[in-house]
Amino acid sequence: MQIPHIPVMLNEVKSVFEPIKDGYLIDCTLGYGGHTYTLLNEKSSLCVIGCDRDEEAVKFSAKRLEIFKDRVTIEHKNFSSIVDKYEHLPIRGILADVGVSSLQLDKNDRGFGFDSLSLDMRMDKAQILSAYEVVNRYPKNELERILRDYGELREYKKIAKLICDTREKNPIKNAKTLADLVGRRGHINGRSVSSATLVFQAIRIEVNRELEELEELLKSIQKSKIDECIVCVISFHSLEDRIVKQTFKNWSKSCICPSAALRCECGNNHALGQIITKKALEPTEAEIKVNPRSRSSKLRAFYIKRGVCGE
Ligand SMILES: C[S@@+](CC[C@H](N)C(=O)[O-])C[C@H]1O[C@@H](n2cnc3c(N)ncnc32)[C@H](O)[C@@H]1O
Repeated sequence: MQIPHIPVMLNEVKSVFEPIKDGYLIDCTLGYGGHTYTLLNEKSSLCVIGCDRDEEAVKFSAKRLEIFKDRVTIEHKNFSSIVDKYEHLPIRGILADVGVSSLQLDKNDRGFGFDSLSLDMRMDKAQILSAYEVVNRYPKNELERILRDYGELREYKKIAKLICDTREKNPIKNAKTLADLVGRRGHINGRSVSSATLVFQAIRIEVNRELEELEELLKSIQKSKIDECIVCVISFHSLEDRIVKQTFKNWSKSCICPSAALRCECGNNHALGQIITKKALEPTEAEIKVNPRSRSSKLRAFYIKRGVCGE
């Protein structure tokens, strides 16, 4: 079986989950089963609930993980609703390797890659909104919003206008046309990324509600009944990493009184646990050499132990 995706920061994931010997781990982004396969292989008493919204990935992983029999449960759904469904089980680990898989990027019909002949970008093909609607039907001010907020493009107005002027003549039918239009090369805001990279990132985030999904997942973990668990999130751009960093910081706070309060009135017992990674872990040079797509990844982990840990 040829595996179409190399799991990112596998050694770091193994080391973060090292204390877990049994119980359940939720793999929120099962993908092609890379992380889950290794964890199941190395921890004979562990069970995994794997979830992905991409049906192709779910089918592939179901086959790949068959050898682990009833130690694996696979769900085709968004990860924002997975914790609610399984919180009654002894969940000891939660992994989210957010972003797109290599197969999604490489398959021509998915519309994620610059040379793709479609304009799709839906992780879940059953979803209605696709990149085509965003690019061809969103009003100019909405396009400006996503290019500014999700692409962090300084020239968001200019690019939105360029898209609108072009689509007035003819609809923009595929990713290739869009990438050529906005520019595949160059440095933006002092960074060595092209406009196309940031435009595609912005559209993908909008189509798949990527930031909302991540926020909802973290909220669902916070309000769940899970009492002791290691949460590990790998993100691929600063917008996601900021959400994870801020959430873990809030989770580690024992006192939640407003900063202007003269003395603590909240009981000073609100910490959900402790941050494991004071600084985000990044892939080694050796990993980036083997798998260049890992280069922008950042891993953060948090140890949930309700009612015990303070700041
Ligand atoms: C980077 S890949 C994961 C790869 C996986 N860890 C492996 O080793 O094969 C990310 C996966 O997460 C899935 N995904 C992204 N956002 C999701 C969400 N909100 N709910 C469920 N799956 C999601 C994508 O469809 C993709 O398959």
